[in-house]
Amino acid sequence: MANVVTSSDDYQFWRDEKLANVQTDIENCLIEVKKPTQLSKAEKNKIAHLCRVNNFALFSTPAQQDYESSIVSFNQQFGLKAFDQHLYVKGQGLAHITQSDQQDQAEFIPYTDRAIGWHTDGYYNAPEDRIRAFSLFCVNPAQQGGENQWIDPQMAYLLLREENPDITTALTHAQAMSIPAHKVDGQIRRKTSIGSIFFMDEMTSQLYMRYTQRKKNIDFYDSDEIKQAVEILDQFLASNTPYHFTHTMTANQGLLCNNVLHKRSTFVDQQDTPRLMLRGRYFNRVQSEL
Ligand SMILES: [Fe+2]
Repeated sequence: MANVVTSSDDYQFWRDEKLANVQTDIENCLIEVKKPTQLSKAEKNKIAHLCRVNNFALFSTPAQQDYESSIVSFNQQFGLKAFDQHLYVKGQGLAHITQSDQQDQAEFIPYTDRAIGWHTDGYYNAPEDRIRAFSLFCVNPAQQGGENQWIDPQMAYLLLREENPDITTALTHAQAMSIPAHKVDGQIRRKTSIGSIFFMDEMTSQLYMRYTQRKKNIDFYDSDEIKQAVEILDQFLASNTPYHFTHTMTANQGLLCNNVLHKRSTFVDQQDTPRLMLRGRYFNRVQSEL
């Protein structure tokens, strides 16, 4: 199996393929679908192709009667079925990302109007619960703000490695980033998570990224190389390359992706229709062969 992290031949082959196929124009990444519950072959192929070369596709649908089941059915057509049993996931596996007035839920930033820094989803999960794909669908946009930014983490790796391979070597250290256990009243809700920031995911033989930009409750391995590499990574994310995408989803638009690095800006809700996003998280990648 190819290993782009450890073999320089594999890396070079992978890099050339990646650069030859990558899309930088967001217009080319947005696919209009007529019926999300029953995609045409052409729609499906376009979306699968984008997810293969760019690790994401944007899509738009007509208004739906039942958004939840339409999106579940859309995702299933890309082989996305095994969903993460996240704390606030509802019946069919989608979380409703909206401002919550429930005390316990409002402790988590996604359920507030606050900004969220760069991260991949489930960065704190155990390896057996690794999130390889997620979908985010906009039912109601905010009145103002709620912009998303994202970048394919494989492109981030490629660009950093081209800049200086020492950076990516440091970020592949087996203990580069640790997240302490989450305890509530002395009981462990989630175990300590220790691992690399970039690594080869054994199940898919794909380069994977596990990262959060927040620094509170995150420990980076105590070495100058790793601390510097994390700083360079953060500077890179804050910069603007042709591979950084910025978009505020309008109603009936969605993002389907292989867990790209993403962030969200702060927002202001419309009074009667608060911003509502439906999010699905999956253990497998978007199926590329259909
Ligand atoms: Fe996220």
